[in-house]
Amino acid sequence: MQNKESGEVIKDNYGRKVSYLRLSITDRCNLNCIYCRPGRNTRFIAHDQILTYEDMFYLLGVVAGMNVQKVRLTGGEPFARRDILYFLHRVKSGFPHLDIRLTTNATLIAGKIRALKDMGISALNISLDTLDREKYQRITGRDFLRNVLTSIDRCLEAGIRVKVNVVALKGINDDELESFVKMALNKPLDIRFIEFMPIGQNTLWEKDNFWSSSEIIQAAGQLTDLEPVSHRDINHGPARLYSLPQGLGRIGVISPLSNHFCLTCNRFRITADGRLRTCLFSDRDYRLLPLIRSPKVSKKLLKKVLEKAGLKKPLGHEIMGQEGKARVSICQRVMSSIGG
Ligand code: 5AD
Repeated sequence: MQNKESGEVIKDNYGRKVSYLRLSITDRCNLNCIYCRPGRNTRFIAHDQILTYEDMFYLLGVVAGMNVQKVRLTGGEPFARRDILYFLHRVKSGFPHLDIRLTTNATLIAGKIRALKDMGISALNISLDTLDREKYQRITGRDFLRNVLTSIDRCLEAGIRVKVNVVALKGINDDELESFVKMALNKPLDIRFIEFMPIGQNTLWEKDNFWSSSEIIQAAGQLTDLEPVSHRDINHGPARLYSLPQGLGRIGVISPLSNHFCLTCNRFRITADGRLRTCLFSDRDYRLLPLIRSPKVSKKLLKKVLEKAGLKKPLGHEIMGQEGKARVSICQRVMSSIGG
């Protein structure tokens, strides 16, 4: 059951409570997206420094007792980790009250869709930045577009809800807005454009390739009618969504830069090597792996560490405020090792 207001809720100094954990289950990915792992010499974390499924299961037990209600498994690419279905099954049955979600590039799920549905995975976030085969190859390094599109259709047929995440990149995919709008008109799915964030030391981010949410919505509104979806649920997440009266799906924008949602941030992130990040944009991290593995560290002590880290969660970030700088990077680690 949810832990109501015991002293074990993770709170920060600004009245926010942590109820959402993003857990990167591997930093490995079968794609090499230009904006995610720029510089192909990104080194993967050594196996012995990666949380085992056992470690993660233990950690989930701890946070589940601290009012965390939603867990998103990310990567890297979660399906690139061996035996992911076994782990998912174990988590779903071990923590029936946790809302378990996944973010994937959908290149490796073809044979697993039925199993996902059967174990109760009801929605997937699928990262897909282009609908053009050649461009897909240029962005990701692989020729998997058709495979991804087929898996999206199979998910919808199986009754798995799909949210497509498109990183908005001016000069790269802004010419495809119409194709994405068509896709949202024709299929019962959400397409969400995420503003490109300057993550990682060698980020490609520049003011010139920044395509803002307001530009996107304005341009999409020229292509079809958009009706804002109102959200009463405060846990609905950061996307602003629009339904399409002329179609089946919805269009949304996520604006970490132009309209950041730090004030309502309810997240903790755990990297694949077991480091807790209390803010995506802050490189301060807390090494949990040795604590999880040490027989001398009790669950109670681990909870104390999480509570203390919560109190140091930064209030927010100011990226767009850094006027005058054409290029900024707000943290050192690349996205594939943080988990989005
Ligand atoms: N800016 C915005 N979104 C990003 N993603 C990865 N890197 C960036 C970035 N620099 C997206 C992924 C995934 C989601 C979790 O974050 O494509 O869909």
